[in-house]
Amino acid sequence: MTKLGIGIIGCGNISASYLRLAPLFAALKPVAVADINMAAAQARAAEFGMRADTVEDLLKAADVDVIVNLTIPKIHYAITRRILEAGKHAYSEKPLVLTLTEGEDLRELAAAKGLAIGSAPDTFLGGAHQQARAAIDAGDVGQIIGGTCHVMGHGMESWHPNPDFFYQPGAGPILDIGPYYVTNLIQLLGPVKSVTSLATATFAKRTISNGPREGETVPVDTPTNIHALLDFTNGATVTLGASWDVWAHRHANMELYGETGSLFVPDPNFFGGEVEIGVHDAKITALPAWDHPFGVPNQDDLANYRCAGLADMATGIAEGRAHRCSIDLAVHAVDVMTSILRAGAERRFVDLTTTCERPDALSPDEARALLA
Ligand SMILES: NC(=O)c1ccc[n+]([C@@H]2O[C@H](COP(=O)([O-])OP(=O)(O)OC[C@H]3O[C@@H](n4cnc5c(N)ncnc54)[C@H](O)[C@@H]3O)[C@@H](O)[C@H]2O)c1
Repeated sequence: MTKLGIGIIGCGNISASYLRLAPLFAALKPVAVADINMAAAQARAAEFGMRADTVEDLLKAADVDVIVNLTIPKIHYAITRRILEAGKHAYSEKPLVLTLTEGEDLRELAAAKGLAIGSAPDTFLGGAHQQARAAIDAGDVGQIIGGTCHVMGHGMESWHPNPDFFYQPGAGPILDIGPYYVTNLIQLLGPVKSVTSLATATFAKRTISNGPREGETVPVDTPTNIHALLDFTNGATVTLGASWDVWAHRHANMELYGETGSLFVPDPNFFGGEVEIGVHDAKITALPAWDHPFGVPNQDDLANYRCAGLADMATGIAEGRAHRCSIDLAVHAVDVMTSILRAGAERRFVDLTTTCERPDALSPDEARALLA
């Protein structure tokens, strides 16, 4: 297996997961990290035994083929653009960008330069979501006609010491957590045709309840309570409730209703979990466990295979094939999410201007082939 040299820009919270999990994958060879804050880069480099570069040096580094953008959402576009301009393949954390125009621009630039570009989330490559995909593709519940998704809680100020950005445009539950749900729906059902929503914010301010700023309030400038309807090209109608204004609820993360049965899919924010099925009047039962490597718990009882999408892209580059966490998928997901917010603001239906193919399924054998 050809190993690609991996560089990372952005040495915050999630960079530790990437660097810890990259060695699981055959195609990934992390060589250097960079951050606007050199001390953060040096700390991560020391922790994982690699080089700390300035951002400029990383963009020029001869031993780096792919640069992973782990900076904050509002600068994803600018950093990913610089990576491509520097002639490196680019892979971004979610959301890829905050506007459709930015996404289209990156797609064009990558194509013009003949570079690969990909984006998280990659949790849809997890064992649970691939098992749900296999069940749908095998016709176990018939054609999917609809579904419901709920990702609701009371926001980030109880655990995050600096939750300000979560409540500003570019975040909120749709752009922060929505990518996991929307991307998984697209891999399971295909592209979306149009959306509508009601999008409100119950609380004008949030009070930080942890850390050194405890008691301080932060303003809310983006919807935090969104109820959307997604009209899929295949005819399915799915409701998506995404809220940080809810203290408790009893909705499942994802239920999909087919012509002959229903499928219950675990939280798309994670790779693993149990998929359940209920066909006709039969009792709802768990699908038999299957042997997918990206569903096996490797972090206490959690399956965490972050980097799977990056590894699939790196392997795709080496083998000259397309990758699953593709720019078309990410741009379409951004179109869905930003259109949901626009529909809410303008209180109307919004027809999407983008579409994409479903990413290829990732079978247990194909997943095993990505591992070191
Ligand atoms: N933290 C998580 O659990 C988690 C999970 C999934 C996805 N993500 C996504 O990963 C991304 C990063 O999240 P995080 O929690 O690691 O954020 P973070 O704030 O902890 O880290 C971001 C890092 O980017 C650096 N940075 C900011 N501007 C920069 C610039 N112009 N040039 C170079 N470096 C710059 C910061 O100094 C910081 O070290 C976000 O898009 C987030 O949505 C995070």
